[in-house]
Amino acid sequence: MTSKYLLGATMLAAGLFSGISAASAESLTLYCSADEAWCQQIKTGFEAETGITVDMTRKSSGETYAQVRAEASNPKGDIWWGGTGDPHLQAAEEGLTEEYVSPTRDQLHPWAIKQAEAASNKTIGVYSGALGFGYNKDLLAKNNLPEPKCWEDLTKPEYKGQIQIANPNSSGTAYTTLATMVQLFGEEKGFEYMKSLHKNVNQYTKSGSAPIKAAGLGETTIGIVFMHDAVAQTVAGFPIVTVAPCEGTGYEIGSMSLIKGARNPDAAKKFYDWALTAEMQGKAQEANSFQLPSNKSAKSSDKAPDLSTIKLIDYDFKKYGSSDERKRLLQKWDEEVSTLPQ
Ligand code: G6P
Repeated sequence: MTSKYLLGATMLAAGLFSGISAASAESLTLYCSADEAWCQQIKTGFEAETGITVDMTRKSSGETYAQVRAEASNPKGDIWWGGTGDPHLQAAEEGLTEEYVSPTRDQLHPWAIKQAEAASNKTIGVYSGALGFGYNKDLLAKNNLPEPKCWEDLTKPEYKGQIQIANPNSSGTAYTTLATMVQLFGEEKGFEYMKSLHKNVNQYTKSGSAPIKAAGLGETTIGIVFMHDAVAQTVAGFPIVTVAPCEGTGYEIGSMSLIKGARNPDAAKKFYDWALTAEMQGKAQEANSFQLPSNKSAKSSDKAPDLSTIKLIDYDFKKYGSSDERKRLLQKWDEEVSTLPQ
């Protein structure tokens, strides 16, 4: 009787032990390219939902693309969530990411699915947002500067040293700006625009939203960013005004991709399905993120810029997310714009 009891207890303990170790062994390496606060919310949200331990790194879109590419022969990341769609499309074209059709996919807006269709289902849209800029109204008044309303305004000599934007090599926001100018004004004039803007830029940051955070803190007057990033600063209590440029503007389809050869493909798919749900996407505003969610039923904030009232260009994601075009434009920017004296 005693030995039977002991045997049972041992088996129970072994079962429990292996159960616990199996559960705690499940982990996920997440490369996150949205804002730090949202990335943190997603990490802890997914851990709470599934018990899977998430190792999260936040890096800008272009930087993450470069990392995924550098690690291709020995991938360390499982899933890449967020950041502008162009480098996700480039990664798809270069075979760095994996095809997947989620059962949650039919809950999404057509623009999110279109992104997947353009890339043989190797990426998908998770949010959208329009490009624009924001300014610190106190600094603007203090420097006696006129209110900028258009892209063209930002090239006027009175704004010399007043503008911040990220570097398009590291940042998807800044690459979206470059590709927007090329589409809005044509390639020649678009590059002329970037050269004139360069004269007024006080710093090229690594991350896309850094310029408007700096404007909030009074370190620069104007920041070129996605409009929702400027709204986030106003909501946080900083004197930031958001501008939808008068000529019209480009936009992003923030995206997600499964990394090819991932070490934890099952956990990555669980994350992917979860990240497309209305419940997960509806929590973005709690992390001060005001993008438009890709799930049609997800709650979006009334503070989110209303894309239907903004003059949006017909951004050609397929072209500007293609490997050749993205490389060519970045190289041209490096050679013809960034090297110019200011
Ligand atoms: C911010 C925005 C996101 C965007 C991201 C791109 O976090 O809120 O909508 O996708 O910037 O980041 P990056 O640093 O690559 O410009």
